[in-house]
Order: sequence, then structure tokens, then C-alpha cells
Amino acid sequence: MPLLTWNSNYSVGIKIIDDDHKVLIDMINKACDSIERMEEQKVLIGLVSDMRQYGMQHFSTEEGLMKEHDYPDIESHKKLHNHFIIYAASLDNMHDSDKENLEPLKIFKYLADWLRNHILIIDKKFGSFLIDKGVK
Ligand SMILES: [Fe+2]
Ligand SMILES: [Fe+2]
Repeated sequence: MPLLTWNSNYSVGIKIIDDDHKVLIDMINKACDSIERMEEQKVLIGLVSDMRQYGMQHFSTEEGLMKEHDYPDIESHKKLHNHFIIYAASLDNMHDSDKENLEPLKIFKYLADWLRNHILIIDKKFGSFLIDKGVK
């Protein structure tokens, strides 16, 4: 069962951002499938690592647009992105023995909640700002 489903409610109105969000949501759901299939922890940590990489790329796209258009809330928005990266990196950098004790569903539920709230509140606010600036 998917943890998140993209629908038009999630649209921030900027195609390049929406497309990235769809990929990230897809990654979370793929991880959820792996958990349901009881795949190894190693596979799951790999998925967290993939999400971290895609997330970093996506955040730099958003932050680039923030700079380009002088977004006033850039610093607070960037801080939230950094929390996500630090969380994913902390999982990535764990010792193998500790990784065995992780609870994958909990991790991906946390990431899904983070992404849902971030898109619906923080990115939507940024999206409205860009739309006002005439960005599509
Ligand atoms: Fe985003
Ligand atoms: Fe963001």
C-alpha cells in the first residue's frame, strides 16, 4: 500500500518542482513495497541513500530558483532541507550492526510525513511566490 499518493493537491504550480516531488513520492512507495516484500535491510538503506541523493539534487533546484528570484524565506527553507539530508545521512552512516536494528517502516513513514508536510506547506508557499513572479 503506498504511503503517499500524488494528486493535484500536491501541486505547487511549478512543473520542474512537481516532477521532482512525483519522483520522491515514487521512491518512498517503492521502499514501502520492498518492506512489504520483507527485503533485506541492505536494500532499504540503499533506498534511503537514493532518496538522499535525489533529495539533494531536488533541493538544489529549489534553492537555485530561490536565489534567482530573491526569495525572502530562503534561509528557513534551506534549514528544513538540511534536516532531511542530515536524517538520511545519519542512517546511511550507521554501522552495519546498528542498521540491523532499524525499523524500516518507521523510517519511511517519517520520510513520507516529512515530504507531505514540506510539499503542502513550505514548497507550496514558495510555489505561490514563483507564480507571482511569473515563473511557470
Ligand atoms: Fe520540494
Ligand atoms: Fe523545499
